[in-house]
Amino acid sequence: MSLSLTGKVAFVTGGSRGIGAAIVRRLAADGAAVAFTYAASAAEADKVASEVAAAGGKALAIKADNTNADEIKAAVSRTVAELGGLDILVNNAGIVLGGPVDEFTLDTFDRMFAVNVRGAFVAIQAAVPHMKEGGRIINNSSVVAHYTAFPGSFAYAMTKGAVSSMTRAIARDLGPRGITINAIEPGPTETDNIKNDAMRDMLRPRMALGRLGSDTEVASFVAYLASPESSFITGSLLTIDGGYSA
Ligand SMILES: NC(=O)c1ccc[n+]([C@@H]2O[C@H](COP(=O)([O-])OP(=O)(O)OC[C@H]3O[C@@H](n4cnc5c(N)ncnc54)[C@H](OP(=O)(O)O)[C@@H]3O)[C@@H](O)[C@H]2O)c1
Repeated sequence: MSLSLTGKVAFVTGGSRGIGAAIVRRLAADGAAVAFTYAASAAEADKVASEVAAAGGKALAIKADNTNADEIKAAVSRTVAELGGLDILVNNAGIVLGGPVDEFTLDTFDRMFAVNVRGAFVAIQAAVPHMKEGGRIINNSSVVAHYTAFPGSFAYAMTKGAVSSMTRAIARDLGPRGITINAIEPGPTETDNIKNDAMRDMLRPRMALGRLGSDTEVASFVAYLASPESSFITGSLLTIDGGYSA
């Protein structure tokens, strides 16, 4: 690890568990002061913040539901006030609710769009006014934005398609200000979303590498995109899937 983010402030949505927690730990290990949100997992959020502090870093856990625009805006304001600015936004919070198209409820559909898409847009709109040239936005999309191997995933795929297309288009708005925005599109990664061994056994043969990804592998990709090294990458949809879609 390089401490390449020393002096930077990052804001990560959904940092209490899974990939988001790994991103918080990694950006903090690289030197950033990191604020992160959670909706339900307060104990896990406190644990992530304590682990970062014990390792000599700085992390601030803020309760803010991605479905609530006021809470997201308040979390961004608090980050700027307490950590002294905002350089990096990682839209990571996301939920996966599956089901066959003929049984899918409108409430479930709306909830998934509220968390995965609307919340990401609100965070971008709240964060951008605080960002200077060199600002970085990384959206956690998914390979399902382009490729769906299983039935019952159409609504999740639609939300991730929206996240990816939003990423490309917003690059045109922010490019003249020297702010980059990119999406990572992970394939199956070991988190609470991988429910059981049956799911693992179903996924493994589809992976060119014969295994699922880890949260730290995805976090390392995000750390690169958050760093000054990635200055000429914007509007890109970047696969990290162990060959799942190869
Ligand atoms: N795991 C995979 O295979 C995979 C593959 C491709 C893309 N992704 C994407 O990666 C991101 C993280 O997934 P994950 O697998 O790490 O999921 P996870 O283990 O279920 O963690 C989800 C995180 O998002 C937070 N979150 C959920 N709903 C929220 C809300 N309404 N407001 C604020 N935070 C909320 C959770 O916090 P609380 O518990 O506090 O609510 C938690 O910190 C998602 O966007 C997902 O679509 C995952």
